[in-house]
Amino acid sequence: MKQPKEITKAEGKLGVLLPGLGAVATTTIAGVMLARKNQALPIGSLTQLGTIRLGKRTDNRSPLIREFLPLASLDQLEFGGWDLFPDTAYESAQHAEVLEQRHLDQVRDELSQVTPMKAVFYPEYVKRLHGPHVKTGATKADMVEQVRDDIRTFLKTKGCSRAVAVWCGSTEVYFPPGDVHASIDAFEAGLARNDPGISNSQIYAWACLKERVPYANGAPNLTVDFPAAWDLAKKLEVPIAGKDFKTGQTLMKTIIAPGLKARMLGLSGWFSTNILGNRDGEVLDDPDSFKSKEVSKLGVLEYILQPHMYKELYGKLYHKVRIEFYPPRGDAKEGWDNIDLFGWLGYPMQIKVNFLCRDSILAAPIVLDLALLMDLASRAGFSGTQEWLSFYFKSPMTAPNLYPEHDLFIQSMKLKNTMRWMMGEDLITHLGNEYYD
Ligand SMILES: NC(=O)c1ccc[n+]([C@@H]2O[C@H](COP(=O)([O-])OP(=O)(O)OC[C@H]3O[C@@H](n4cnc5c(N)ncnc54)[C@H](O)[C@@H]3O)[C@@H](O)[C@H]2O)c1
Repeated sequence: MKQPKEITKAEGKLGVLLPGLGAVATTTIAGVMLARKNQALPIGSLTQLGTIRLGKRTDNRSPLIREFLPLASLDQLEFGGWDLFPDTAYESAQHAEVLEQRHLDQVRDELSQVTPMKAVFYPEYVKRLHGPHVKTGATKADMVEQVRDDIRTFLKTKGCSRAVAVWCGSTEVYFPPGDVHASIDAFEAGLARNDPGISNSQIYAWACLKERVPYANGAPNLTVDFPAAWDLAKKLEVPIAGKDFKTGQTLMKTIIAPGLKARMLGLSGWFSTNILGNRDGEVLDDPDSFKSKEVSKLGVLEYILQPHMYKELYGKLYHKVRIEFYPPRGDAKEGWDNIDLFGWLGYPMQIKVNFLCRDSILAAPIVLDLALLMDLASRAGFSGTQEWLSFYFKSPMTAPNLYPEHDLFIQSMKLKNTMRWMMGEDLITHLGNEYYD
């Protein structure tokens, strides 16, 4: 990334395209609609509520981030998306049962106008879903062209000057990148011959990149995290980011683990389990989709604790993650963590965390922030993997051969320093010597 000389102004309407108009997407859309009518606060959104310190602590300069950065305003956002169910965003939000009817009633008309475009849906990548609202096409290359056409039509009919996309679709089955993902040419050939290594989310991503629409991935599947997508994003100068929104239990893990490590406390075990009853939980009940999630959730502690450097403290850590589909709970997930830790002379202790969270309530502000910051990145001339947005992800994308930074506090510092840097402000190191001269 080069420091921008100038950032293009956020003029005109910004299309926010969400493949997957389910619980997270509709909670985001309804929340933005309520916030712009001043009927609710966008709590959890750093871009809307956060401030950023500039200069010295004695300078008293801490503007709101949305006043410091040239972000699109909530009034400029125009929502669209794709889904294999034809429900409008209003109907889908009712089905998801995240927001109460009193909230949905206030934005019913606007929400009802957000209708999904037909989905690209090859069922082998999400085995638990079957929906009627799907595209047909002889090849995956045709599907890419149809999605590109959807994007152009959306921009034109809604009068948007540009768009960003955030994948809010279901978690796809796990598979690692293969030969078809190795280069742009290999991927394009794979699209033309319907290569089974190319999943639905990759088709949307490829279409977005070709239309120069920045693309962030909220689920753990590959989507834009493979060499061909990195290369295309660089070649066409489009920002990409992922993977898997950092909410609930993993958010807690990346808050607690860095603290224990900072104080050199040891860990022998960390057992995490969840009960969850929404459609996401149903999809994750399929072992192949759960595998994608498990890989994403398990990586976190390994990178934060660095057991290869701290063998006595973390070399024998037993880390286990479970997700149980339990319909009565709906979106109101409950997560338990049992943490076995040890201190001075090896004496054992335990921490129990019982987080009664709401998945989509925690994910919605992330979708909003990513949409605004990815659009900003594009206007600042950034392209390829946006590692500074790791703050929002469970499994952050990085340059090849670079380990991801999972510690929420390092991620937050990196995020804010990138904001300062792009605006030509001094970086903050927290050294603070100057106060004692
Ligand atoms: N809520 C959270 O805290 C959280 C955290 C991290 C990641 N995620 C991920 O975000 C995604 C969305 O979660 P959710 O709770 O909204 O799930 P959801 O099941 O309510 O919504 C997903 C939607 O995607 C649609 N879909 C699936 N495949 C599609 C395709 N190929 N094209 C278009 N639409 C498609 C489904 O029909 C569904 O409506 C999931 O992958 C989930 O794992 C959520």
